Amino acid sequence: MEKRKVTVIGSINMDLVTKTEVIPKVGETVMGESFFTIPGGKGANQAVAAARLGAEVTLIGCVGDDMFGKDLHEHLEKEGIILNNVEPVTHVSTGTATITLSKGDNSIIVVSGANFEVTPEMVRKNESVIADSDVVLLQLEIPLESVMEAAKLAKKHNKTVILNPAPIQALPKELLSLVDYLTPNEHEQELLLAANSLAPDELEEIRSKCIVTKGPEGVFIYDQGEKQIKGFEVEAVDTTGAGDSFNGALAVSLSEGIELKEACKYANAVGALSVTKLGAQSGMPTKEEVERFLQQREDDKS
Ligand code: RIB
Repeated sequence: MEKRKVTVIGSINMDLVTKTEVIPKVGETVMGESFFTIPGGKGANQAVAAARLGAEVTLIGCVGDDMFGKDLHEHLEKEGIILNNVEPVTHVSTGTATITLSKGDNSIIVVSGANFEVTPEMVRKNESVIADSDVVLLQLEIPLESVMEAAKLAKKHNKTVILNPAPIQALPKELLSLVDYLTPNEHEQELLLAANSLAPDELEEIRSKCIVTKGPEGVFIYDQGEKQIKGFEVEAVDTTGAGDSFNGALAVSLSEGIELKEACKYANAVGALSVTKLGAQSGMPTKEEVERFLQQREDDKS
């Protein structure tokens, strides 16, 4: 099959990860276990997930003209992602995420830096890239006006749009009406539905676009009532980037014309595999690894 085209418009961060048994309280100092810098950012993570699964991925974003920016550019290039539209900017630093990892779970502080240089004008400059995609994948770590512009252009060209509403914020109704799929986690969905004063029919429309991710439980979709697409149990080492892996995989499956429930099952498997290694992108599997994993789980049933 010819490679399907996924365009990701979003953030590129360097993740500064501290692994610790104890999370300090305010004013307290504790000794951590280890520290590492590793590529991240929701946009870049989703782009890497999709590229490893065999899609032709273009990333539109910004990095700073600094060491992190150079390292991330090099890394994403090695992943085979098309970076013609990743601009280095001089007056701000590359985005960072300070992550505390404790007992397999995390808390994150993002400093947007260069990610906020992804302007609506920059998105407009890339209209031809959007027009040439099968699926456009968006998150909320770049300015909201730019997300809006991307969704408008994608719809103008009849493209499938997935919006991963993370980190969650109040979203204009127009944006919600432009996207085809929303992929919040449980907490994000609650805020998403509560933030706008929505009429019952608007609420229904948005709910019907939601694919709610619930970690190992899998995801919930609304198809004449709530339906669960079960997840896969694995031993979690680091859950950072699990949602991004899910989104990247969902974009690839939908671009290949796979129906929603099957696409969610596949994306659940990708999300599960991604948490088995340290770092947002380290555990993201290749297409072959996912196929082997799914086969193995089928064999275990029989
Ligand atoms: O979704 C995980 C990502 O969120 C991390 O890689 C971090 O960079 C933050 O953007």
